[in-house]
Amino acid sequence: MRFLFPALAATLFVAPAAAQEAVSPAPILTTPDARDVWTYARPEVARVTHVDLDLTADFQRKVMRGTATLDVLTAPGAEEIVLDTDELDIESVTAEDGRPLAWRLGADDPQLGASLTVTLDGAERITVRYSSKPGASALQWLSPELTAGKQQPYLFSQGQPINNRSWIPTQDSPGIRQTWDATITVPDDLVAVMSAEMLTPEGVAAGEGRESYRFRMTRPVPPYLIALAVGDLAFRELGPRSGVWTEPTMLDAAAYEFGDVEAMIDAAEALYGPYRWGRYDMLLLPPSFPYGGMENPMLTFLTPTLLTGDRSNTDVVAHELAHSWSGNLVTNATWSDSWLNEGFTTYFENRIMEALYGPERAAMYSDLDWDGLERDIAAAGGADAPTTRLHGEPGATFGQLDYFKGSVFLRTIENIVGRERFDAYLRGYFDRHAFQPQTTAGFLADIRGHLIEGDAELERRLQLDRWAYQPGLPENAVHVESATLAAVDADLEAFRSGAPVSRIDTQGWSTQEWLRFLNGLPRELPAERLAGLDSTLDLSRSSNAYIRSAWLELAIANRYEPALPSLRDFTGRVGRGLLIRPLYAGLMEQGDWGKAIAQDLFANARATYHPNTAAQIERIITAPAQ
Ligand code: BES
Ligand code: ZN
Repeated sequence: MRFLFPALAATLFVAPAAAQEAVSPAPILTTPDARDVWTYARPEVARVTHVDLDLTADFQRKVMRGTATLDVLTAPGAEEIVLDTDELDIESVTAEDGRPLAWRLGADDPQLGASLTVTLDGAERITVRYSSKPGASALQWLSPELTAGKQQPYLFSQGQPINNRSWIPTQDSPGIRQTWDATITVPDDLVAVMSAEMLTPEGVAAGEGRESYRFRMTRPVPPYLIALAVGDLAFRELGPRSGVWTEPTMLDAAAYEFGDVEAMIDAAEALYGPYRWGRYDMLLLPPSFPYGGMENPMLTFLTPTLLTGDRSNTDVVAHELAHSWSGNLVTNATWSDSWLNEGFTTYFENRIMEALYGPERAAMYSDLDWDGLERDIAAAGGADAPTTRLHGEPGATFGQLDYFKGSVFLRTIENIVGRERFDAYLRGYFDRHAFQPQTTAGFLADIRGHLIEGDAELERRLQLDRWAYQPGLPENAVHVESATLAAVDADLEAFRSGAPVSRIDTQGWSTQEWLRFLNGLPRELPAERLAGLDSTLDLSRSSNAYIRSAWLELAIANRYEPALPSLRDFTGRVGRGLLIRPLYAGLMEQGDWGKAIAQDLFANARATYHPNTAAQIERIITAPAQ
């Protein structure tokens, strides 16, 4: 029996227990909780199954221009297909035989962009000719000064959650998986890389100083995972199926820092089953990259703030790798359930770290995440605040609670049912739902069907619905504590009782010990004590971006002006939201003194930030005073 329309197949099929391999077209979910309010698409009427991009990167005009050819699957009687766009200049839409098709753009919404509705007139493959705008929210065009080499420009994209519609006209929903191909034409002294198989690693001549690169993704992915970077890039092999791309001057440092990656892939497979994507390469970006990492399939994107020379921030690599299962294989159907991506991944990441470096090191990361959990719940307004719920409005879960609360949820289940049983369950979960979207309700149904199996006492102890749907933290939450960080707490206690900084032995501290120390210091300190910290520990000049950010946050809280040059240098160079947002927010809490500094810093740095990060910071520094 052949299902003409996979939406029907999805509701009729019960997925077999055997490992799911990529099937195209991938099924979509039709339950009400899987309806995505962040897309204009109506996939139950007509959906995109494959995207073929043919685009040229124009660094002068800062636009991508060319065509997207979409394979379309329709329900019987469907006459139109609805796509997502954001500020695209549409030139034409044609059918496979070249005949023009009627199209119209809907009203523009500042967040969602505009729908593009195409009258199909029988077409099963349509070609949209278009270009992106220079301010496209997914794209950051860097001038040479913002790169490590300072000679060549750079371009990268960031699709999650709904930015890719600013350079790709398709159905931009995590529940609508699509295979894709691309041909990207760039100046011939640059290299293009994408989150896919690279068919032409050397590039092929494309006339007048240009070169084309071809890519292929045969496994259906949600469109937010289509990613591109163009720059002066070089590659170093790190293992049989792994390697790192970056600018030539950063290659040695990157190769050292990420040297454990192949062992991480092996550890991840031993935990939850085969790595289904072929290669796992990484791209280390310039410092304006807005995130710690982004799990673009086959090519994780990483911030250079991870380079601390001691491999202490490779939890981010473990995290992005873990997304190859939780997120890229089993994907939140809508952004209301992003904890299914991020919470699962934070738990999985910690299990990889434990497998490689042992339980104490893993406990350090978990314990710091617990600090973050408590901070975020307090900042959200306390345990009753609706934004502390895991499942809610898209994008509404406060701060990083989808990471922290989501991972503690899974840790708690692990503790109650036992590790062996939980690991076996999770491995089955990834197999059962591979290459499919998932909702919170779907996960709860799965765990009830395959782990709890009617055990009423177990059901009562787990409190699954409370975790998934209620605010705050259930009492059964498991807090993993680290002995290493407890030793740092003892140093903090000594400092608070007046011990000089020189008595604290910071020799060999990892980033995590530094963070526990700096974030644990009293928020109000006299200038002499701040000066003592800075001169003894050299904080203002730290090349570790995590240390620098945590120190600057403390300095700002105390209006400690000697740290201002360091602040200006840092915010003018680093664009990672997690490390700079707290600095702007901290300044804004300091009345007119801080507000003036924040505005000055932002004016200086704005052009170096990713469009989304710039918009977030603009909101922080223009928000009315509390
Ligand atoms: N998928 C996220 C990045 C992301 C989140 C992009 C939300 C857009 C919207 C990525 O996997 C991530 O979580 N990165 C973290 C690192 C992690 C170790 C906490 C980051 O950027 O800090
Ligand atoms: Zn993540």
